[in-house]
Amino acid sequence: MESTQVHVTQSVICSMLHLCLVAIIIAAGRAAVASPPAKIAVIGATGKVGRSAVQQLVSRGYKPRILLRHPASVPAPSSMPGADAPPAEVASFLASLPGVETISGDVTDPKSCEALVSGCSAVLALHGARRTRQLSDLWRNPEEEAGHAKQINYQGVANLIEAARASRTCKRIIRLTGKGETPWSIFSILINGLGSMAKAWNYEGERLLRACDDIEYTIVRPGVMRGEEADLPPASLVLGDDGADLKVTSIPHGSIAALCIDSLGYANAGRCTLCAMASEEPGTGADSWAPLLEKVAPDRRAFRDDLLAEHKRATTLGGAGLVVGLGAFASAVAAVVVLALKALAAAVLGLMAR
Ligand SMILES: NC(=O)c1ccc[n+]([C@@H]2O[C@H](COP(=O)([O-])OP(=O)(O)OC[C@H]3O[C@@H](n4cnc5c(N)ncnc54)[C@H](OP(=O)(O)O)[C@@H]3O)[C@@H](O)[C@H]2O)c1
Repeated sequence: MESTQVHVTQSVICSMLHLCLVAIIIAAGRAAVASPPAKIAVIGATGKVGRSAVQQLVSRGYKPRILLRHPASVPAPSSMPGADAPPAEVASFLASLPGVETISGDVTDPKSCEALVSGCSAVLALHGARRTRQLSDLWRNPEEEAGHAKQINYQGVANLIEAARASRTCKRIIRLTGKGETPWSIFSILINGLGSMAKAWNYEGERLLRACDDIEYTIVRPGVMRGEEADLPPASLVLGDDGADLKVTSIPHGSIAALCIDSLGYANAGRCTLCAMASEEPGTGADSWAPLLEKVAPDRRAFRDDLLAEHKRATTLGGAGLVVGLGAFASAVAAVVVLALKALAAAVLGLMAR
């Protein structure tokens, strides 16, 4: 009788332990499912790439925290406003999306960067200077101005790196730049010359990231961003790692936003400089970034560290060359027009004299 009681007690204890184990496994599963979605900071959210990135983050279940220079003060439109809408209107729409948190500030302000990245696991740095060259740049140093590319594309990145370090949570910076290793190309001369050396300072910002050994970076260098994702032919995405020198083509803002977000999911995309284009021949690329991201490897080559001076030299000499060339062309056209007018006048006078 006693042995039967002991047996029953043992069975009851075993069953209870089994139930507890099952309950623990179910609870753990629920906890994993219910764990809060990753918080991702976004700078440049009101820009053309940024607004697409925020919408894509929301639709993928992330919780974006966006830095806004223009408070979302106007009533939120029901859909994304047009490309030329004021930033405050775009900001209002983005702020109305589910899970979006806003922070007022500026990337040139270290405190704004700290508040932005605190508690985030990564930051999408999609901002860029829009300042155009001014006549007054001839007699005063524009680099100290808050809107200059040195402050936004370079010092802003330095601020972000410091903020990421201080946060202890933000382990990856995704930075959107552009091809900036060919200072003497016509694109570089024009962008640097007409803007505030945006290419040169984007490259300097990249150098800061590549020098980080405690924060991972994914640098994305797109082609010319234009067009709609829906119009991109199938199988036309191309990606080169190690800062590959791919031929510049057009690629939609939305595709680049998707690449920035996708790369968050690839550990091998940490410490990478990626060049992203659409293939020259439609159908020779990939349909999505995933198979391309799977294959990227961390930067291997030594990137030049003397390009700022080269960019400045190319912009000054190349710019002067372009001005002289355009001047000579305009003079030649004017001379031809004058000659033609003279010939016409002589012909008319000749006819009248008859
Ligand atoms: N367009 C291209 O074809 C191309 C090609 C290669 C590389 N890129 C690079 O990609 C970047 C993004 O392209 P995009 O077309 O999205 O540019 P965009 O539409 O001009 O957007 C720039 C974004 O940067 C923000 N910003 C500027 N200064 C800031 C500051 N001090 N603090 C915080 N945010 C600041 C702007 O905010 P506000 O709205 O408040 O002004 C805006 O959200 C460009 O800036 C450029 O560096 C562009």
